[in-house]
Amino acid sequence: MTDTVKELVSKCLQARDMAYCPYSRFPVGAAVLTADGAIITGCNVENASYGLTVCAERTAIQRAVVEGHRQFTAIAVTCDIKDRFVGPCGACRQVLMEFGADWTVYLTKPDGSYKETSLSELLPLAFSPAHLAKN
Ligand code: THU
Repeated sequence: MTDTVKELVSKCLQARDMAYCPYSRFPVGAAVLTADGAIITGCNVENASYGLTVCAERTAIQRAVVEGHRQFTAIAVTCDIKDRFVGPCGACRQVLMEFGADWTVYLTKPDGSYKETSLSELLPLAFSPAHLAKN
């Protein structure tokens, strides 16, 4: 594990501890790595009007964009499930795709072990901004 991946994984685990999830009691943490080496974290933020819940991955992306980042290379995501690797929901996969298909995705267990995959693998044949170009 490189130091950067170690830090990304550790930050997503820390972010999970900040989750606001009184309804599901299913904390999720995410950490995105920007092209210039910054790490921005997110957790899920639920709402009494359940549909307004924002996932950890999207919280991280939105924070990163506000901080001026639009180029990303990787994301680590974690939840409390110990016995298998869990991927981001479909909506979050699409939101990541907005910023390119070339993301490395680290599906992280609570003990810090991870499975490395890619956004293209998680969302094949994706709709992307390029499809909006007029032809
Ligand atoms: N959740 C995430 O934060 N990310 C995902 O990719 C899947 C689901 C959150 C939303 C909700 O707060 C809780 O997990 C249960 O669905």
